[in-house]
Amino acid sequence: MAIRYLIAGNWKMHGTPTLAAALAGELANAFTDPDAHDLELLVCPPAPLLAVVRAAIGSGKLLLGAQDCHPREEGAHTGDVSAQMLFEAGCSHVIVGHSERRTDHGEDDALVRAKAVAAQAAGLVPIICIGETLAEREDGRAVEVVLGQLSASLPPACSAYNAVIAYEPVWAIGTGRTPTGRDIADMHSAIRGALPGLATGAEGMRILYGGSVKPDNAGEILAIANVDGALVGGASLDAGSFLKIAASRP
Ligand code: PGA
Repeated sequence: MAIRYLIAGNWKMHGTPTLAAALAGELANAFTDPDAHDLELLVCPPAPLLAVVRAAIGSGKLLLGAQDCHPREEGAHTGDVSAQMLFEAGCSHVIVGHSERRTDHGEDDALVRAKAVAAQAAGLVPIICIGETLAEREDGRAVEVVLGQLSASLPPACSAYNAVIAYEPVWAIGTGRTPTGRDIADMHSAIRGALPGLATGAEGMRILYGGSVKPDNAGEILAIANVDGALVGGASLDAGSFLKIAASRP
C-alpha cells in the first residue's frame, strides 16, 4: 500500500489566539474526507495555542502536534512541557530535534532520542528532525552527518507507525534556498537505505523533506522518490499556501 503523505505545518513562535483559531478553522474546513484517504494534514502551533487550535479543529480531521517536549514525565523543569501533557491537549505528533532547538538550546542527538522515546511512551508520534549545515554539505559530508544523526536520534523501538523522519538541511530553513531535486533524492534514498537497520517496517516509514517548501516548489519536491511529505515553516502560516502545498502531492 502506498504511504500516506504527511504535510506538517511548523508555526514556530508565531500566532495569537485569534489568528491561530482562524487559520486552524480555515484548514479544518478545507481538509475534506476524500483528501484524508492519501493525506494527513498536521499543524504544530506554539504550546499556549494548542487548546484554541484544538477547539477550532472540532470534529475535523486536521491533526494537532507540538514543537517540542521534555524527555521526563514530570518534575522541576521550568518552562518545559511533557509529552503526556501534549497528548492530553489533543496532540498526535510532536516535532523533536528541530535544528532551531539543536542550535538555540544546544540539543544533541542523545537528548533528541530521549525526547522521541518520551513522545512514543505518551502515545505521540515524534517527527525526528535531522539535517546538515552548509559547511558540512560543502565539505562533502552531508550524507555522513545526516545518517549519523539518524542512527543516534532514533529511539530503539521505531516502526513506520510510531516515528516520522524529517530531513531538513539547516541552510534551507527559512532562506528560500532548497537543495536540487537530485540532492534531495540522494539524501532521502540514503536515509531509506539506512532505516532497515534502525526500525521495523522501514520501507513504510515516512521521510519528510523540510526547508523552504512553498506552493511553487512543492509539486517537484513531493514527486521525488522517498519523499513522503513535507515539514513546512513560513508557508504554513497562510492557509491558502499550506493547502496548495498539500494539493501538490502527486
Ligand atoms: P521553512 O521552515 O519552511 O520556513 O523553511 C521549515 C522548518 O523549519 O521546519
